[in-house]
Amino acid sequence: MCGIVAAAARREVSEILLEGLRRLEYRGYDSAGMALIDNEHNLQLHKQQGKVCELEKAQKLHPHLGCTGIAHTRWATHGEPSGANAHPHISGQRVALVHNGIIENHAALREELLASGYEFSSATDTEVVVHLLHQALDGGKTLLVALQETVRRLEGAYAIAAVDVEHPDQVVAARKGSPLVIGVGIGENFLASDQLALRQVTDRFIFLEEGDVVEITPSSMQIYDESGVPVERKRTLISEAVEVVDLGGFDHYMLKEIHEQPRALAATYAQAATHPHIDDCFGAGAARVFDRVKAIQIVACGTSFHAGMVARYWLEELAGIPCQVEVASEFRYRKRVTHADSLLVTISQSGETADTLAALRNAAGGEFIASLVVSNVANSSLVRESDLVFLTKAGMEIGVASTKAFTTQLVGLLMLTLALGRRRAMSEEKQQEVVAALQSLPDYVQQTLELNSVIEELSGAFIPKHHALFLGRGIEYPIAMEGALKLKEISYIHAEAYPAGELKHGPLALVDDDMPVVAVAPSDDLLEKLKSNLEEVRSRGGELFVFADQQAGFVSEPRVKVFPMPHCPEVIKPIVYTVALQLLSYHVALQKGTDVDKPRNLAKSVTVE
Ligand code: G6P
Repeated sequence: MCGIVAAAARREVSEILLEGLRRLEYRGYDSAGMALIDNEHNLQLHKQQGKVCELEKAQKLHPHLGCTGIAHTRWATHGEPSGANAHPHISGQRVALVHNGIIENHAALREELLASGYEFSSATDTEVVVHLLHQALDGGKTLLVALQETVRRLEGAYAIAAVDVEHPDQVVAARKGSPLVIGVGIGENFLASDQLALRQVTDRFIFLEEGDVVEITPSSMQIYDESGVPVERKRTLISEAVEVVDLGGFDHYMLKEIHEQPRALAATYAQAATHPHIDDCFGAGAARVFDRVKAIQIVACGTSFHAGMVARYWLEELAGIPCQVEVASEFRYRKRVTHADSLLVTISQSGETADTLAALRNAAGGEFIASLVVSNVANSSLVRESDLVFLTKAGMEIGVASTKAFTTQLVGLLMLTLALGRRRAMSEEKQQEVVAALQSLPDYVQQTLELNSVIEELSGAFIPKHHALFLGRGIEYPIAMEGALKLKEISYIHAEAYPAGELKHGPLALVDDDMPVVAVAPSDDLLEKLKSNLEEVRSRGGELFVFADQQAGFVSEPRVKVFPMPHCPEVIKPIVYTVALQLLSYHVALQKGTDVDKPRNLAKSVTVE
């Protein structure tokens, strides 16, 4: 989603800004831009629809140089993707501004600014902010005070950075609802929406808090809280090397990330061995919280929500603890009745998803005994603001469609089940069984990856189709949902998932020879029931693709294609089967020629609601 990079230095910063944008590219965007204040104190602007490499080309053709600048990748919310709507937005050739988030009262502000004589050249909500800032500056305020006044007028979520030709060595910025971090340099300072964008220039960061307004120059920085009081914020040294992210011989990041799963799953579970007790994998104080907890509320979005749905089966069945799961965008706005002594568990690959973060904040104030986040990004907002943290060891995930982040989340959630289960219904024998299953998981995933060419061959059948139905039962139902989500995200084939028992209550009406039906078959008590559901599909001319345990007794026959999955422990089946469905979506998308790693309209990190 939108990304911000800014610099106040004594050296030329255009390349630093462009490199910062390149590092944020994987999040998804549709246009990019950069504004610099040159040494004659003029504003120099490049912005256009398309990729950062297009911006680089424009910069090569007409170089703009300067020591103070702001840059942005935009993911359209208000106004189509276009050069005019790309950021930075400028006002009166004096002020330039970039913004992440959504200004909810932009329409009223626009009316007001139009009445004051400001002209608008974009359809964005952002443009009102730059004109408001300009108006405040015209009133004779300093840049910092002008920004403080401006943000007081804004409703909604924002991370903002701005420059003014009359304050040529300053960048001012503010955050509320969207992340922003200062990168502390030597004789230079930076700002970005994600520390990753600045790891090329510094390893020292200050994560800004809600409502903070900041002014940076090459030699100074001042942070003010929401009420305008100067504050000190904690400095964080991030010393671990930035992960080298390249395709490593694969054609796409998604395929690479699918293949990284055996290593990522092993690394995530290995945390159990490096801590004296499994509770410690969730942070200091986890044991005390786990001793008290009587119910779990999981909140997440997208693929992470599906991880939560799987976890509900484990937590209730194995650990005997009541568990509810809800998408964050609903949870945050709903009047709730919460079980006494509940633990709030958020799940988020990025740790920055706006709705999940808002849900955490909205649940503060005694509703839960504590909050726990399962995340892939240390130092992310959710990690910083949660009481307990489980970090998945997926490594950086670039593909917009989540793969290894999902399966490692499931490992973390199964470890949570173990930690809670040993205090409740789970026998010693069952615990040992789960531990053994987790240890064997990377091998079973590896065996599934070896089915790649079989799955590739099958995927051809989906190319002419416009719809697909995914069925599962029990814990495989959320896996069917995740399979359907993956297929629609990257191949643009409309896919729906249903619990197989619901087939007769609607979706059966859609089944014909144009509707492939994918079934995730368990090999437990529900298998016979699923077989009857599949018969119902087959007798109506539907074409079936069944992912089934090789010992489950399914055989291929006309219009029924069976994929023999490794015979693995029941508890890890959701993870193992997910890998096969990831490969299916990948191959369908590949043959359809879509942009596998950056599917249209989607973003990796959704920082606006
Ligand atoms: C976006 C991504 C998904 C992801 C979801 C939640 O929609 O494209 O892959 O599952 O956000 O993201 P999170 O970082 O909170 O897991």
